[in-house]
Amino acid sequence: MKILLVGNGAREHAMAEALKKSPKCTELLVYASAVNPGIRDLTSVYHVGDMKDMKAIQEFARENKPDFAVIGPENPLAGGVVDVLKLIGIPSASPIKELARIESSKSFTRELLAKHNVSGGPKFKTFTSIDGMMEFANELGQIVVKADGLQGGKGVQVQGDHFETLEDGVLYAKECVERDGKVVIEEKFVGQEFSLMSFVDGEHVVDMPPIQDHKRAYEGDTGPNTGGMGTYNYPKNLPFLTQKDLEDAHAINVGTAKAIKEETGENYVGVLYGGFIAVEDGVRLIEYNVRLGDPEAMNALPLLETDYVDVCQAMIKGTLDQLDIRFSKKATVCKYAVPEGYPVNPVKGERIKIGPLPEGLKVFYASVDEVEGELVMTGSRAVAFVGIADTIEEAERLAQRGVESVKGPIFYRKDIGTEALISERIEMMKKLRA
Ligand code: GLY
Repeated sequence: MKILLVGNGAREHAMAEALKKSPKCTELLVYASAVNPGIRDLTSVYHVGDMKDMKAIQEFARENKPDFAVIGPENPLAGGVVDVLKLIGIPSASPIKELARIESSKSFTRELLAKHNVSGGPKFKTFTSIDGMMEFANELGQIVVKADGLQGGKGVQVQGDHFETLEDGVLYAKECVERDGKVVIEEKFVGQEFSLMSFVDGEHVVDMPPIQDHKRAYEGDTGPNTGGMGTYNYPKNLPFLTQKDLEDAHAINVGTAKAIKEETGENYVGVLYGGFIAVEDGVRLIEYNVRLGDPEAMNALPLLETDYVDVCQAMIKGTLDQLDIRFSKKATVCKYAVPEGYPVNPVKGERIKIGPLPEGLKVFYASVDEVEGELVMTGSRAVAFVGIADTIEEAERLAQRGVESVKGPIFYRKDIGTEALISERIEMMKKLRA
């Protein structure tokens, strides 16, 4: 089988590896915006082009004739890459443009879920002008302001993190309305965030293990927001979640897939990634993504025991219920090595060297190029190290050995996956729910 993968980050490196592991994948074709040396070494055709140019991606697919495609990042999904491939008879294990709005439009998602009574939503309102913003903000007490449209992870501003007073939040909401035409203001939740990604074929919803990401750049959850500095999962549930929390999050993903079908008449095909928060009295939905998470893909895919090509085909055919999808019951810890200055003013063009690595550790390349046989950082998250073991302690130790082995101007978060940080989270949830 020939499979087309779109994208070139560490997430796509993990996807490429999972696809190539399948004996069914004889050829991996990649359309990317830059060369990722890790992905390139797994492919038969690697094309660098504009990720916003749907026609160019269609042309690449027309020439190379893949049996199906799978898309990594959100931008080509929001641009309609699945639709243009469908027009030339190539199916994708990813959602069409209309359904990708569940990530690209915060107002579409909140309104859809409210209309179809999917639980877990906050009090919210969509505004198209400043009228009534301050009254609603006062009613909520603590707010989150969500710009509509993809904003490269910078569109959501949370009171206490990005602004202090309701007045400042409303000022940001006003800027969003002026720029995008609308904005969502919603209540702020307090608790512990987690990601529950599910494979979906329109009707059936199969979960991956729950994972916790770390958005802030520096230790102790301080510093600017990033794409995610690292992630971990436990062999079973995350230690601050109950089985009921997990079941409730699953039910929200199921309800969302059903709501999408009822609203649009279309089957949601692909990964539905719920960004959840465990709060005082249960679980709430913060947002949806229409793709695998980065870094979460690097925790989940190496644990997938079922053939990933079979999973993609089952999503496309609507037969997920006929496939026994299993993940090995192991802990994983992922830590990203990022360039000094990231994310505000990262060094670029600097060489890095990765030292000798222990067994049980995976390396996924992200924003790096290869020059004269050496890795050169290009400005964003550079290389991810994923420790996989029976216990979280061992997985963390492995990931730490990975990031420590890097020579060059990088930094990383030592605290991700450590006992100290995880205990703080368990204690926070205990207090909240006492
Ligand atoms: N882990 C954050 C994201 O993939 O958007």
